[in-house]
Amino acid sequence: MDEASTAVTMEKIVSLCKRRGFVYPGSEIYGGLANAWDYGPLGVEMRRNVRDAWWRDTVRKRDDVVGLEAAIMMNPKVWEASGHLAGFSDPLVECTRCHERFRADHVESDRCPECGGQLMESRQFNLMLKTFLGAVEDTASTVFMRPETAQGMFVNFLNVLNSTRRKLPFGIAQIGKSFRNEITPRNFIFRTREFEQMEMEFFVRPGSDEEWHEYWIRERYDWYIRHGIREENLRIRPHDADELSHYSKATSDIEYLFPWGWAELEGIANRSDFDLRQHSEHSGTRLVFFDDESSEHITPFVIEPASGVDRMLLAFLVDAYREETVGGDDAGAGKGERRTVLRLHPTLAPVQVGLLPLSRKDTLTPLAREAYRSLRAAGRFTVEYDDAQSIGRRYRRFDEIGTPFCVTIDFQSLEDGQATVRDRDTLTQERVPIAELSERLQARLGV
Ligand code: GAP
Repeated sequence: MDEASTAVTMEKIVSLCKRRGFVYPGSEIYGGLANAWDYGPLGVEMRRNVRDAWWRDTVRKRDDVVGLEAAIMMNPKVWEASGHLAGFSDPLVECTRCHERFRADHVESDRCPECGGQLMESRQFNLMLKTFLGAVEDTASTVFMRPETAQGMFVNFLNVLNSTRRKLPFGIAQIGKSFRNEITPRNFIFRTREFEQMEMEFFVRPGSDEEWHEYWIRERYDWYIRHGIREENLRIRPHDADELSHYSKATSDIEYLFPWGWAELEGIANRSDFDLRQHSEHSGTRLVFFDDESSEHITPFVIEPASGVDRMLLAFLVDAYREETVGGDDAGAGKGERRTVLRLHPTLAPVQVGLLPLSRKDTLTPLAREAYRSLRAAGRFTVEYDDAQSIGRRYRRFDEIGTPFCVTIDFQSLEDGQATVRDRDTLTQERVPIAELSERLQARLGV
């Protein structure tokens, strides 16, 4: 098979996601809702793993970052102060013939990419989604669905400072849903109107901001590499001055080489003291840090690594996807057999261990069930029991959903109390005492 036909494409990813239960089209039985997606049983496990990996490394393993969960709907004055009401917009153009709308910076001429019609003059389109609180739909009760989680950290800056007695530098992290009325949502879960962000606001002394910016760019780049993204598919791209957000002094994107080209995976911004100053001014509450050493009030600068769960999950799936020919008649892979495999990092895989009795014979079931029960009871990793179909087909299925290890209970196990552990990537097999399975798998999974 030639290289082109085995290359990863969005069609292959979307189809695998639906077939295996990672991601389904939203409201499908009603014809769907444009660019809304629902996560299935494997998708939610993987999302959880992505969030946990980020939280573990950004919050729990550090002593200078704490967590927060703010409400999605905030006082509308927040968005006035943050500049989102006035400045969070994209240039929109509309076709005079088919009325399709596009982001002006996504089209190359004044002609409609769909029908060739003339495009209207571009106008600014605010991306915030509105809703109404209370029974009467009047303007007084209009609120916005947050377009970023970041503002929750800024408005709670003093609360966190007072309740934790932190010193600079320190960070506040949050994971949660954000909403944007994107003009052109596209590319599956890459750009949607409802998505989940993982953001951290790291408050530093003015003057040390550039150094911390560099630190977080490096830290976040290395994080992706540590979680299995291939180096050749990852790059850092500093923003040009004309593409900086209204709050940013400098931003670098970590970009991933998606099937359609390089695109932003995460942005790491130096937000300067913009947000704390704006909220101080608009709320009348001084959002400052009192420095004991100099007896001065300081408005900290903020370094912000901002990423998205959905986009990250897509990058991990795309990067892990392989169609390969496996040699040897090992581990259920006959000579020259083709397989699709997700080489996901073990901590991200939705099912981390597959438990397979070699056959459905009554003699094997009790031992296999007991091994399954004890692995699940440990609660350290996800395990799935599968006794349907031939062993080869079951291996293929676990390969396709990225399961790093399969444990097979066979007739020999009844005699020697051992099971075979098969490695997804190397296809090597090892006999392991059933009593030691949990511990040995934990070590190999790194959980
Ligand atoms: N607080 C800064 C901020 O929100 P951003 O670059 O607009 O910056 C940060 O968003 C990250 O959130 C992006 O890198 C992306 O991973 C994710 N994201 C933003 N808009 C998204 C959308 N419409 N769909 C999916 N993910 C999105």
